[in-house]
Amino acid sequence: MENNRELQDSFGREHTYLRISITEHCNLRCAYCMPEEGIALTPKPHLMTANEIIHIAKTFVELGVTKIRLTGGEPLVRKDAKDIILQLGNLGVDLTLTTNGILVPNFIETFKIAGIKTINISIDSLVKEKFNKITRRNYFETVFENIDLLLTEGFRVKLNVVLMKDFNEDEIIDFIELTKHKNIQVRFIEFMPFTGNQWDKSKLVSYAEILGTIQSEYAFSEIERLTDALNDTAKNFKIKAHLGSFAIISSVTNPFCTTCNRIRLTADGKLKNCLFSNSETSLLETLRAGESILPLIHKNLLSKKAVRGGMDDDLKFQNPDLFSQNRSMITIGG
Ligand code: GTP
Ligand code: 5AD
Ligand code: SF4
Repeated sequence: MENNRELQDSFGREHTYLRISITEHCNLRCAYCMPEEGIALTPKPHLMTANEIIHIAKTFVELGVTKIRLTGGEPLVRKDAKDIILQLGNLGVDLTLTTNGILVPNFIETFKIAGIKTINISIDSLVKEKFNKITRRNYFETVFENIDLLLTEGFRVKLNVVLMKDFNEDEIIDFIELTKHKNIQVRFIEFMPFTGNQWDKSKLVSYAEILGTIQSEYAFSEIERLTDALNDTAKNFKIKAHLGSFAIISSVTNPFCTTCNRIRLTADGKLKNCLFSNSETSLLETLRAGESILPLIHKNLLSKKAVRGGMDDDLKFQNPDLFSQNRSMITIGG
């Protein structure tokens, strides 16, 4: 048990789920993620090489990490993404990724060899014009075809839908109807504030509002509340007659921090103990200096705040002076 204590924070939370952002680049420009003016990209020498990613990942696995998710930017745009995925596949963890789905056809074999079973795809609209508007690119058909390809190839697929007022809140039922014949999980996500994403409370579609919309369409007896896994970000539901299911991720109105088991590694090798933490620990510099990163990991975890990087109430969470001290979402990876 000595090992596990290394991954414990001061609230006794065990951090067994590592999210690694492997690139800051993306082939989309989603408004809620990428600031309109773009971002200053980190110079390549300051980014982790594939070998450094594997080395750090191995260290975490030795300490007790059992699940690794690759994120970005868009993880699949990284040139050596296949190599990274294949090497991580040898670590014996539950390996997975969150992607916009565009490059999926090039990776089907790689995913299979690496033992990836579930893939989360970001998709915010079922209407072509809206999808293209929010992503500022034209990949609507590609993403839909690739979701079907993943299903045909036997992967479990979760769709991440960030809901925003006056944008896609009118598509909640259409997304749920997609679960009628497709064995997918649709996850409605409350829009969260990050640097440069023009977050505003008035754009938020809350957990209560999402459920309200669903309850006005389906009878109480048709909706089933499923059991959530211990460290789930999502509250899970199902329309009983549907093949797939749906869920709500409510970081704004119902944070799930008490069961948090997540720690993040950014593409430039910094450890972030919370999605909203503004203090980071560079593992890469120490690794390159040939020193042990273990004390840094331990110290970083012990500084983790109880809730949302210390923004524990509504007022703090909605205060741009506080949330803009964090990175922009594109360089965190969710
Ligand atoms: P599963 O492992 O399939 O449950 O996925 P996940 O929810 O861990 O990851 P994903 O990358 O699909 O993220 C879905 C949404 O949940 C995104 O909006 C993320 O920003 C958000 N999310 C993921 N992890 C955390 C977390 O630790 N805290 C908060 N507040 N939100 C998170
Ligand atoms: N609020 C909520 N979710 C977000 N994501 C990106 N930006 C935000 C935001 N501001 C989601 C993406 C992706 C996941 C990693 O994070 O949709 O699926
Ligand atoms: Fe964990 Fe921070 Fe997310 Fe809360 S907001 S669940 S503490 S990563």
